Order: sequence, then structure tokens, then C-alpha cells
Amino acid sequence: MAKQKASYFCNDCGTVAHKWSGQCGECGAWNSLSEAVAEKNGAGSRYSGYTGSAAHNVVALLSDVVLEAESRTKTGIHELDRVLGGGLTAGSVVLIGGDPGIGKSTLLTQTVAVLSEHHKALYVTGEESLQQVSMRASRLKASADKVKCLAETSVERIIAVADKEKPDVMVIDSIQTVYTDALSSAPGSVTQVRECAAQLTQFAKKTQTALFLVGHVTKEGAIAGPRVLEHIVDTVLYFEGDTSSRFRIIRAIKNRFGAVNEIGVFAMTDSGLREVNNPSAIFLSRHESPVAGSIIMVTREGSRPLLIEAQALVDDSQMSNPKRVTLGLEQNRLSMLLAVLHRHAGVAMVNQDVYVNVVGGVRVTETAADLAVLLSVLSSFRDKPLPNDLIAFGEIGLAGEVRPVPDGLERIKEASKHGFKKAIVPKANIPKETAIDGMQIIPVQRLHEAIDYIQNS
Ligand code: TYD
Ligand code: MG
Repeated sequence: MAKQKASYFCNDCGTVAHKWSGQCGECGAWNSLSEAVAEKNGAGSRYSGYTGSAAHNVVALLSDVVLEAESRTKTGIHELDRVLGGGLTAGSVVLIGGDPGIGKSTLLTQTVAVLSEHHKALYVTGEESLQQVSMRASRLKASADKVKCLAETSVERIIAVADKEKPDVMVIDSIQTVYTDALSSAPGSVTQVRECAAQLTQFAKKTQTALFLVGHVTKEGAIAGPRVLEHIVDTVLYFEGDTSSRFRIIRAIKNRFGAVNEIGVFAMTDSGLREVNNPSAIFLSRHESPVAGSIIMVTREGSRPLLIEAQALVDDSQMSNPKRVTLGLEQNRLSMLLAVLHRHAGVAMVNQDVYVNVVGGVRVTETAADLAVLLSVLSSFRDKPLPNDLIAFGEIGLAGEVRPVPDGLERIKEASKHGFKKAIVPKANIPKETAIDGMQIIPVQRLHEAIDYIQNS
């Protein structure tokens, strides 16, 4: 294909410039200009993503639009169906991101193997050879005899093959290895990734092919060309979890067909990923005897409660600017909580380093973790272990109040099921009618009430 005349666009604000420069003249972002290709014969912006066919360009009343039944295909892997919002939608584009080696190719090989029983599946590999893909499939004992595989990196050729094969499901592993001849930049660059994803998305929408794009995560934790790709696709799933732990979590960051923040949990085994259907206690590690700085919190990631250990270490700081380090939690949230602790409970940690870790590599996004985090920090600071059978949850406000969280009863019940006997919970979350057998509820309205309780327990 002939080279097109290059122009440049800003990755942040989308402004088009005719010359490259270090700073975007419009929004002032540095180093955000990337090469784009001039429109071909006035064919419309190549970067607008899916625009639909011209025949649909009519104004209509929303109430007059005939809704077609959404066709969902169960992938047969329940945890994946759950994060997809109940199955795979025809014509949908799903981006799967995660660290190298976390299991993206494994999951998709398993998925297409199951789907290929009743649907046509095409696995496009740009990273591995056909032998490697086949070896993985046989290791997974996946019934891969109906999965068609293509080793190709040119997006034009991939689309040409897909046009002929007419798959129901197509996997591109990975989008960073695919390139288009129309651009001179290297495969994997933001422009290439964006252009190829846009072309593949248009193909998927036109032919109602369900498309999975595998995306690598950069060191900063974002899929290359993050903003652009997230705009273009329907669903973004991220792999979370430590590669050192055998558990893998997939979280929906964006989903046009379901709830966000829903998680699917898997365990990596010798023969691929195995689903964990009841994950509430997998991250639960109990200590033989109580240790200072540890507490179990009940968070609710997606639609299921999870019991997770939060660990804190508070130590004399050698620095003028003490450290606030979090793993699996937002760091700013910790700083905020420490300020509340100082202001409303009179506990100052100005010359202390504070480390908080959520055990198991889970990322906790909920503010319901606040109370447990502060109690673990305090427990380490005072070197006073918390009771082994205690759980806590609750959001902490800047005024030192403990705010209720959604689904309090369900959280308490889950903790009770796993043998916990005491729960510090926001007052508004006390179960109204039902007392939970063997569970002592300690309702708190203010942070200092929770602190008083653990001091006297
Ligand atoms: P892979 O799916 O290739 O990762 P990605 O595509 O995200 O880079 O997974 C690779 C890792 O998973 C590798 O370290 C080996 C491990 N693995 C197993 O433990 N069991 C298996 O059955 C398979 C296929 C891989
Ligand atoms: Mg891979």
C-alpha cells in the first residue's frame, strides 16, 4: 500500500497538527503528538473508531428504534462470562490486558477451544509460532481440533483471511504485534496500535464477529495507547494478581454490556486456568497466634464478598519525609486516613514510615476497606495484636465518622460462615431483624469508638 502524507495528532486532546513538536499547542501536554495518516479520498477520520454504516445515518426517535435481542454466547467459562456481563456479545470487542506471563494467552486458548465446539473460532498469533500455540493447547488438554490458527501480523492480511474464514470469534494475540502498511511507525507504537485496533473493530462490527484483543501492559501499568484503545473497544478486562501467587483475577474496567469492577477468579494450574467459583476465602491466611498489624477485612469486589487480610507495618522513619507505601490500595487514601486518625483520634504518625499490604495481590478499590486499614496501622503502631476472630469494614469520612457501606449484612454473613466471631461495622449497617448466630456486632459511628473498642479488647 502506498505511504500516506503524515500529519500529527495529540494523544491527549486529539488536536491535529501539521508539524511535530514537543508540546501540544492546544492542551499543552508534553510529548503527546503522534503520527497520523491523512484521510484517504475524504473517507472520514480513520480514528473515529466504529461509526456504523451510512444507511443508519437517519434521525429517529429513541422510542421508535426496534431493539434487537442481544445475542449472548456463553463462553463456557463461568468466571469469564461473569466479567463479560453474562456472556460474549456478537460484534463486541474485548480488550484483555495484563503483565507478560500472567495468563492472557492461556485463558483465550481455553476460551476458543470451548467455543469452537459450536462456533467458528480463529486464533491469530503475532507473538508465538503455530507450534507454540499448539503446544500450549495440548498442555491445556483443550479440544483444539476445531480452532483455526493464523500466524500473521499485518492487519490487512488478517482482515482478508478473516473475511474469507468468517469466524464467530477471533482472537488477536497481541494487538501490539500487529501493524498496518499505511503507517511508517513501528508495530507497537501508539499510532499503530490505535489504527490496527480501529480497523479490526470496524471489521468486528460489520461482520458481528466477537473479537478479543490481547494488550500488553507497560511498566506504568497501562495498555499501550491506553486512552485510545479504551475508547475504541466495548469491554476492557485487566488481569490482576501476583504472578508469584497462583490466583489470577480478571476485572472489568469498562463494559458496555455489563457491570464494571466485576471480577472473575482463576487459579493457574499445570493444565491451565481453573475457575474458582467461590473465592470469598482464597486470600484468607490465618496466623497461628494473633500478630500485630494484621486484620481481616470484608470487601466486595464486583458482586461477591471477599475476605482479605490487610497487613500494616509502622516503623520509625529515617527520613525527613516519612514513607507511605501501599500495595493493593490507593496511596492517597492511606495519607488521607492517617490525617483523619491524627485529627480525630489524636494519633500522630509524623515520624513513622507506614506500609500497608493487601495480601494475595488483590487490588482493593472500595472505600469500605478504610476502617480495617486504619485498625491494622494502629495495631502495628501500638504493637498490639487484634483478636484473631475479628473482621472490620466501613468507610471513614474526613470528619472522623464511620459511614455505612453497601451490602453490610451479606459481608457479616460471609465472615460468620468462615468462623469469625466479632465484627466492627458502621452503625447504620447493623442487621435489622436477623441476629447472626455466634457473631458479636460492634457498631461504631465515629472512628474513636472503634479505637476505644480495640484498646479495651
Ligand atoms: P501465558 O498465557 O503465556 O501468559 P501471557 O499470554 O499473559 O503472557 O501464560 C504463561 C504462564 O503461565 C507461564 O509462566 C506458564 C504458566 N502456565 C501454567 O502454569 N500452566 C499452564 O497450563 C500454562 C499453559 C501456562
Ligand atoms: Mg501471550
